[in-house]
Amino acid sequence: MIGHIRKTLWRLLALLAVLAAVPALADDPPSPAELAKIRTGNAACLACHSEAGLKKPPKDGMDLKALRKYLVHADTYAASDHGQMACTKCHGDGYDDHPHAAKAREELSECQDCHARKAMRIERQFDKSVHAENLSDSFTCATCHDAHTMALASKLRDPHKIVAQDNKICLDCHDSDLAFARIAPEKKKRPPIDDIHDWLPNTRLHWKAVRCIECHTPAEDKLSLSHEIQNKDKAEKKCATCHSANTSLNARLYRHLATEEQHKYGFINSVILGTSYVVGATRNPTLDFGLIILFAATVVGVLGHGLVRIITTRLRRSKKND
Ligand code: HEC
Ligand code: HEC
Ligand code: HEC
Ligand code: HEC
Ligand code: HEC
Ligand code: HEC
Ligand code: HEC
Repeated sequence: MIGHIRKTLWRLLALLAVLAAVPALADDPPSPAELAKIRTGNAACLACHSEAGLKKPPKDGMDLKALRKYLVHADTYAASDHGQMACTKCHGDGYDDHPHAAKAREELSECQDCHARKAMRIERQFDKSVHAENLSDSFTCATCHDAHTMALASKLRDPHKIVAQDNKICLDCHDSDLAFARIAPEKKKRPPIDDIHDWLPNTRLHWKAVRCIECHTPAEDKLSLSHEIQNKDKAEKKCATCHSANTSLNARLYRHLATEEQHKYGFINSVILGTSYVVGATRNPTLDFGLIILFAATVVGVLGHGLVRIITTRLRRSKKND
């Protein structure tokens, strides 16, 4: 019963999210009649490509094991950037009947086909990234972007949701030997993501509060985040870039909150106070003092822990050598 109510509420929320997004679309959004037609068409695909379709296949003799890998979640899709589009806009006509046409996959549209102008800027940045330079052509826009689920940061607004969406892209590969090996050059081993960043205290908390791209893309692009993922030597390591009064996060992660919250609180740093407290980034001296002590204690704790580890390993090693 509660599950049912919750589901209905989610559907309502998804609908509201879609409605709220309508005025923001650059292209002419579909009229209600057009949208209804699109939804009916998409429902035909989803009759098979959904949990419900998998449980109760509308047709006998289908390869259900293959189908299981190809499910699209209707509500997530509806709330995504492409939620008002017909599946066939990207997938072509080859999928209208099942079994699907043998060459159906070759007709798949690429991002550039529809977003020419925007893609040109992004492509220029992406072409300079470590992924484009070091990996084969198989690393494309679609390697990172799931066209069925992606939602613009300005639409999500909540920094924690933005961080979760964007970091999932990187972590799904950099935190998985299987996915990493699929695209990495032969013999390249995946460096464990927590080990690489062991200089960052409370690493897993940082993964939840701040994006990989915050530290791994050049800071000069003020209008939007750059797609140029840089070499590790150029990555940001200075704590003060974020943990300071003029934190770079105002221009990046908290950008979509800034204008409104600014009016509400009167000064920009309270944006951070309202969402999560970043040490040193607010102008509340008493709070800062307490937290600086906590912060120092953490750093001392981390250093101390490291020192003890070095000493004990040395001891252990020298014992082994005896
Ligand atoms: C009657 C059930 C059914 C319907 C309706 C259906 N599909 Fe499929 N689809 C499948 C099954 C089963 C597979 C798994 C592999 C196979 O059998 O081709 C699949 C595979 C796919 C694949 C991945 C395989 C590939 O060739 O890349 C895509 C993409 C796809 N379908 C898109 C669509 C779209 C878009 C629609 C609606 C226009 C649609 N399907 C309608 C059953 C269906
Ligand atoms: C904006 C373009 C776009 C729209 C709209 C779209 N898709 Fe896709 N879809 C893609 C791309 C791109 C891929 C290939 C992803 C890849 O190669 O990793 C894909 C892959 C798939 C797959 C195969 C999954 C896989 O892992 O290869 C299925 C099934 C599918 N889409 C079904 C649908 C259905 C059903 C809809 C409508 C509800 C839909 N798509 C709408 C772009 C789109
Ligand atoms: C068949 C055409 C088509 C393809 C292919 C396509 N899109 Fe879109 N996309 C649209 C339409 C239509 C909209 C909604 C209207 C708009 O805002 O332009 C949209 C919206 C978006 C948005 C949000 C609106 C904005 O401000 O840009 C993003 C981001 C986006 N697409 C990214 C992508 C990415 C990444 C790919 C490739 C994986 C892709 N699209 C493939 C047609 C397409
Ligand atoms: C390494 C992963 C990765 C690759 C590859 C990638 N993107 Fe992105 N893209 C992201 C992330 C993360 C964001 C979110 C940044 C933000 O919120 O602005 C994003 C945001 C976007 C946006 C919305 C923000 C904006 O600037 O308008 C568009 C559109 C987009 N990407 C298109 C593309 C296209 C086109 C390609 C291929 C040329 C591509 N992306 C390749 C990770 C990637
Ligand atoms: C599908 C897998 C995949 C995805 C998704 C991906 N990466 Fe990578 N990335 C790789 C591989 C493989 C390499 C190693 C390339 C090489 O051989 O130099 C790499 C290299 C890197 C490097 C360079 C390390 C160095 O040696 O200088 C950084 C930094 C990086 N990725 C960050 C990111 C970030 C941030 C994201 C998300 C926006 C991301 N990656 C998404 C697979 C991926
Ligand atoms: C606070 C800034 C920061 C954040 C957040 C961050 N990184 Fe890094 N990352 C760095 C720095 C600095 C280095 C270089 C470390 C070194 O060389 O000792 C690095 C190194 C790397 C490397 C190179 C590994 C190697 O040695 O080949 C990869 C890959 C990487 N990061 C991926 C990620 C991913 C994925 C995320 C998100 C989950 C992320 N980073 C988040 C700062 C950051
Ligand atoms: C790219 C931005 C960024 C960088 C660089 C960065 N941090 Fe953070 N840090 C954050 C954010 C955002 C939080 C999360 C605040 C929250 O949600 O409570 C955080 C949280 C923390 C916390 C936990 C505070 C608590 O409430 O428990 C500590 C400790 C910390 N950072 C120390 C550091 C140190 C030391 C460095 C440099 C080695 C560093 N950070 C670099 C953004 C950053």
